[in-house]
Amino acid sequence: MIRIAILGSTGSIGVSALEVVAAHADRLEVVGLAAGGNVAAMQAQIDRWRPRAVAMATHTALLDVQSGLTSDARAGVGEWAAGRDGLVAVATRDDVDVVLCACSGTEALEAVLAAIVAGKRIALANKEVLVMAGALVTAAARARGVDVLPVDSEHNAIHQCLAGHPASHVRRLVLTASGGPFRTTPVDELTSVTAADALSHPTWKMGRKITVDSATMMNKGLEVIEARWLFDVPAERIDVVIHPQSVVHSMVEFEDGSLLAQLGVTDMKLPIQYAFTWPDRWASPVPRLDWSRGLDLRFEAPDLQRFPCLRLACDALRAGGAAPVVLNAANEIAVASFLEGRVPFTGIAGIVADVLAEAAGRSLDTGSLAAIREVDGWARRQAAARTATLASAGRGISA
Ligand SMILES: NC(=O)c1ccc[n+]([C@@H]2O[C@H](COP(=O)([O-])OP(=O)(O)OC[C@H]3O[C@@H](n4cnc5c(N)ncnc54)[C@H](OP(=O)(O)O)[C@@H]3O)[C@@H](O)[C@H]2O)c1
Repeated sequence: MIRIAILGSTGSIGVSALEVVAAHADRLEVVGLAAGGNVAAMQAQIDRWRPRAVAMATHTALLDVQSGLTSDARAGVGEWAAGRDGLVAVATRDDVDVVLCACSGTEALEAVLAAIVAGKRIALANKEVLVMAGALVTAAARARGVDVLPVDSEHNAIHQCLAGHPASHVRRLVLTASGGPFRTTPVDELTSVTAADALSHPTWKMGRKITVDSATMMNKGLEVIEARWLFDVPAERIDVVIHPQSVVHSMVEFEDGSLLAQLGVTDMKLPIQYAFTWPDRWASPVPRLDWSRGLDLRFEAPDLQRFPCLRLACDALRAGGAAPVVLNAANEIAVASFLEGRVPFTGIAGIVADVLAEAAGRSLDTGSLAAIREVDGWARRQAAARTATLASAGRGISA
């Protein structure tokens, strides 16, 4: 049995992960579940999966989860915990082999580091953790000899393409991007698109934050930073190409000009299962590509005027230091404000650009976890202040 803890079990990735477990109940076991505030979903998951450990983002949510359970379901949970410490508790249990980090945001950073120190395999869906603390996380994994298996479909594809090839043979990583719902929207109409427009992703069904990030292409920028840390390849050797069909999940170009690509249906159960079972491959519950219908695969360069967030993220990676932490924190605040209808879509890039510019003039330490958390908090406050100004002025700022 592979014994699994799922951080973010009530979300899009978490639910897909439980479907993978259901398809392999004889070989995969759920030991721990953690989520934010979705009490009803967690109660249903405890009832179905009978985990030994459960964590919620707050004590209130934890009490609410407990109060609605049958005594039978409740008795099976030996460990209850809350907050960041709760995530750490679930992720570091002796009876856990693999930790799937599928929380949105950055709350699970301490839990991922603690799980690495405890020698657990990390199946990493959450990219924000690496954007925020890529150097710390990868150094810890190297020191402990722990595998960090990417669940993000692009990085999972690259992991598959790199298998058996020495780093010296690799020239470039090529991340594919669908281009999101606004790939062809006239640029001057982007100021008036709504949250509902941004949440209608053409090819993937995902959580709200990552779906908005896909619409701005900040998601691809965060993935460039994630790839830099996962594969130890510098920014200038990581390309992004728009591929609206989302069939080619990413590619690796080798020194001789050969390209290897990984193709598949748009179903996250595939990379989730790969991260659980690697280096084995098991039969999977996902549908197969249907060649009989023909495949029309198109590729085009991203338009950085249309997608300033992609440029901001690549610039932040090149700048290094605190810039990626600031980028990520400001983006989280800006996206949440856009979803609340407080700032326009184009305001997201404007807020992130402003906070990055403010940070560039300061000396911000990111040498430790505590220092990173401090920079993160500072950038969130800066972004919140800009959001408030923008919201009260009732207009957007352009990047
Ligand atoms: N969805 C995809 O296809 C996809 C693909 C690649 C990468 N990713 C990455 O995977 C991560 C999750 O994405 P998603 O689409 O699954 O997001 P989602 O649907 O919004 O789910 C987020 C999960 O995180 C939990 N959570 C939020 N705050 C928490 C906290 N403070 N403590 C503990 N749990 C917390 C949520 O719990 P509640 O619902 O209970 O609040 C939920 O279970 C993101 O980093 C995203 O970038 C997702």
